[in-house]
Amino acid sequence: MTTDELKALIRTVPDFPSPGIQFRDITTLLGHGAGLAATMKHLAKAAELAGAEVIAGMEARGFIFGTGVAVELGIGFIPIRKPGKLPIKTIGVDYDLEYGTDRLEIDPAAIAPGQRVVMVDDLIATGGTALAAADLLRQAGGIVEQALFVIDLPELGGAEKLRSAGVTVDALMAFDGH
Ligand code: PRP
Ligand code: MG
Repeated sequence: MTTDELKALIRTVPDFPSPGIQFRDITTLLGHGAGLAATMKHLAKAAELAGAEVIAGMEARGFIFGTGVAVELGIGFIPIRKPGKLPIKTIGVDYDLEYGTDRLEIDPAAIAPGQRVVMVDDLIATGGTALAAADLLRQAGGIVEQALFVIDLPELGGAEKLRSAGVTVDALMAFDGH
């Protein structure tokens, strides 16, 4: 399936989670077997071209796509978790949300020093999540030069911010507006 065909599988829900927001919902893509498989294949091809040695995905939706890509390529997966979930000594980064803050954590031993990590998530909006993840992976000794998303919302500027941090950003599709 082409990426245009995959884009047609995304459901847009108006006014969620707040008035004026057009929520781009992946549930409909996930429920479409051929679409889900094609999404993994498109992302895996890009990750392979970037020389991925391991994939990292951000909880929760990044786990779905990141694991699929890792399985497709036969390489490992690093879970970047929301706080308090990992049972060992973690490193963490706090980051800003539109309202309030959040935090991501990893097990630094999950990365070998100098390992080439490709980040995968479902969507990039403001870039807060991806920037925090790149920061953490780099603190743990990973080389982070590529991030892959199913969806980019370019008007929110996240992809641009991530590029300024030295990360190449690719997405299978983009949507205008928020
Ligand atoms: C969503 C989405 C991305 C992030 C993008 O995650 O899955 O990870 O927001 O937004 P940003 O570029 O502005 O940081 P969220 O934490 O809302 O939910 P999830 O746990 O379902 O992935
Ligand atoms: Mg997320």
